[in-house]
Amino acid sequence: MYLMENYSRLPVSFVKGEGVYLYDEKGNRYLDLIAGLGVVSLGHSHPGVVEVINRQSAELLHISNLFLNPWQEELAEKLVREFGSPAKVFFCNSGTEANEAAIKLTRRYWRLKNKSRYRIITFWKSFHGRTYGSLSATAQKEFHYGFEPLLEGFDYAYLNDMDSVKKAFRRETAAVMLEVIQGEGGINECEKDFLKELQNFCKEKEILLIVDEVQTGVGRTGLFFGFQHYGITPDMVTLAKGLGSGIPIGALIAKEEIASAFTVGSHGSTFGGNALACKVASFVVDTVKDMLPSVKKRGDFFQSKLQELRIGKVKGKGLMIGLEMEENCKEMVLKALEKGLIINCTSGNVLRFLPPLVITENHIEEAIAVLKDII
Ligand SMILES: Cc1ncc(COP(=O)(O)O)c(C=O)c1O
Repeated sequence: MYLMENYSRLPVSFVKGEGVYLYDEKGNRYLDLIAGLGVVSLGHSHPGVVEVINRQSAELLHISNLFLNPWQEELAEKLVREFGSPAKVFFCNSGTEANEAAIKLTRRYWRLKNKSRYRIITFWKSFHGRTYGSLSATAQKEFHYGFEPLLEGFDYAYLNDMDSVKKAFRRETAAVMLEVIQGEGGINECEKDFLKELQNFCKEKEILLIVDEVQTGVGRTGLFFGFQHYGITPDMVTLAKGLGSGIPIGALIAKEEIASAFTVGSHGSTFGGNALACKVASFVVDTVKDMLPSVKKRGDFFQSKLQELRIGKVKGKGLMIGLEMEENCKEMVLKALEKGLIINCTSGNVLRFLPPLVITENHIEEAIAVLKDII
């Protein structure tokens, strides 16, 4: 009654979560294949996460960025190790803020080099967030409606189409930014050759390559970063969602030379990288690293089971899976919910599965049985 009407909420109220299951107020159990939109990577109320929260909250929650921050240092070191090139990290609280930081860093990097490069090429069907920079980067018109004028300086190209990238390129182009698997846009995967060619193009034109790993990152696709499947090395990567397994945190990782364009006072966040969020994310990173082979295995198993259903095209990698149907799938989400299965429909006709990474083959069989039942 007191909430703005900007969300279409499903008619259920959860009171408890455990692993891959959620429970409503009547005690009904639901198998959660969406994990809070790819956030609760280690499952609901993971005992390790609960323990870190309890310990850290009893010690210290937040000190601001006015002081030295060993929790950020610890997490940043782990992320840079996974990233694989010398880099530095900026912490914030969400995916859109991480992308906003990437857009700002791009502009400032070229400005400090006295080059008038500020435009960024992004892709149709992308989703980068809701703040003005990230929204303007998002090339889906329905998210723009009523919010114009948008931030100037974004040129949209088609995924897996190098010609359209070349057409979008201008003298002022500063970077290309993309998701290696578009999530919100319907689980659309980049081709390996396209990404290799894109990376070469960026090198040739001396522009930056930014990968938005807000949805694909932190183990979701079976490797720590989604870009690692394609043999490319981006200049910047953004993370959020699964990094905190339910505690809000976002991160921008940028190669050292680029990162140096954020000088003292040029960018910041009050809450960004507080002690609690960093401590939990550190635990998540350590835990996910050990789980990567099982994410791949379970993802392959899930995909093969979906294929057996023969009701649509199965797409994605690891535990970021789409099932593209002929018709709109919103109705299926409601039917599944009635049967205790939580799924999501994106882009109108794509069922999207982003289960907790701790899902087992038994859970997957359970989900497939419900899907069979409602088809
Ligand atoms: C690829 C991608 N980037 C950015 C965002 C925005 O993240 P947030 O909602 O945390 O701002 C999302 C959210 O769905 C996303 O999928």
